[in-house]
Amino acid sequence: MNNKVRWGILGAAQIGINKVIPAMQKGEWSQVTAIASRDLNKAQAAAAKLGIPTAYGSYEELLADPEIEAIYNPLPNHLHVPWSIKGAAAGKHVLCEKPIGMSAAECEELIRARDKYGVRIGEAFMVRSHPQWLRARELARSGEIGSVRAIVGVFSYFNVKPENIRNIPEFGGGALMDIGCYPIQVSRFLFEEEPVRVQAAIERDPAMGTDRLTSAVLLFPAGHAVFTCSTQMSPYQKVNIFGTKGRIEMEIPFNAPPDKPSRIFVDIGGTIRTEEFPPCDQYTLQGDEFSRAVRGLGEVPTRLEDSLGNMRVIEAVVRSAGQPDYELKASPGFPALPAPARRHESS
Ligand SMILES: NC(=O)c1ccc[n+]([C@@H]2O[C@H](COP(=O)([O-])OP(=O)(O)OC[C@H]3O[C@@H](n4cnc5c(N)ncnc54)[C@H](OP(=O)(O)O)[C@@H]3O)[C@@H](O)[C@H]2O)c1
Repeated sequence: MNNKVRWGILGAAQIGINKVIPAMQKGEWSQVTAIASRDLNKAQAAAAKLGIPTAYGSYEELLADPEIEAIYNPLPNHLHVPWSIKGAAAGKHVLCEKPIGMSAAECEELIRARDKYGVRIGEAFMVRSHPQWLRARELARSGEIGSVRAIVGVFSYFNVKPENIRNIPEFGGGALMDIGCYPIQVSRFLFEEEPVRVQAAIERDPAMGTDRLTSAVLLFPAGHAVFTCSTQMSPYQKVNIFGTKGRIEMEIPFNAPPDKPSRIFVDIGGTIRTEEFPPCDQYTLQGDEFSRAVRGLGEVPTRLEDSLGNMRVIEAVVRSAGQPDYELKASPGFPALPAPARRHESS
């Protein structure tokens, strides 16, 4: 008997069409039965391309389809909570893209809706389903690298297209919301607690107003997490986990390719061991984990209580960056470096 969960997709988003839908279609527990777009032609084209049986010209029509049990919401960030609540009110379970919404308060609203309508709702932090992160946490817990003291992450790409949702502040654009949410998520995942304080710096694009370079220190009870993220920097991603005895390096921490093995490097006193994971698609794993939760066989991969923790950190980063910082002081007889030397250093 086919016990797969019947999914509907809100919007013909790039991430859905290129990654998440094809991956979910490979799952043991998920089948995609409908897709909706604000433009019926777009929905039909996506349905034809991906072999999805039904296409709708509005999100409302999809939510009214009684066949659909769960929806995947990859709309722009400002529409995450409003449409997830509409989905819940229609009796659908919801897998919603990251970041969960525009604020912690919005996430709380979603938690209330989840509890009111009695559905499953989770945030699509696919990295949480990847074996490389489950192993990293196992290693952190095992004590092999000693006590975890610092987690250092970088995540960046270059995108200055003004029409892209990532570059529109009202849509929840900017580096912190789009990719800074990942190092925050994995730090909380590894420390297994919440940071108590945050110190951050934000540089905004003067024309678009979105944060294009954000760096932060998250002060956890057990140690520090430090990250830099940028929408206008050479594309890169890396996470290093430093313990008192060793270090774990995640080679491709966030966009682990589905067709190649993933690797992490465990460095104990300079002796480096490679741990390799067979090719797997984290979006397939995420979809199946969520679908199993819908069938009562486990929990959604990232619960909204966890999402709320992430949103609280994002808000603290923004608040902290608005605080006065410390200017460097030159002392009498020891002036700051002359300007030509500074120019030389940065050229
Ligand atoms: N987990 C991951 O790996 C990952 C990766 C990339 C992105 N994401 C997340 O996925 C979401 C979508 O990202 P994306 O890059 O796929 O974006 P995108 O291609 O711009 O897709 C967003 C979709 O939202 C719909 N939409 C509804 N109202 C809109 C409006 N006012 N303006 C623009 N679009 C509107 C559109 O669908 P219709 O026109 O068909 O209605 C559009 O195709 C974001 O929340 C992002 O953070 C996650």
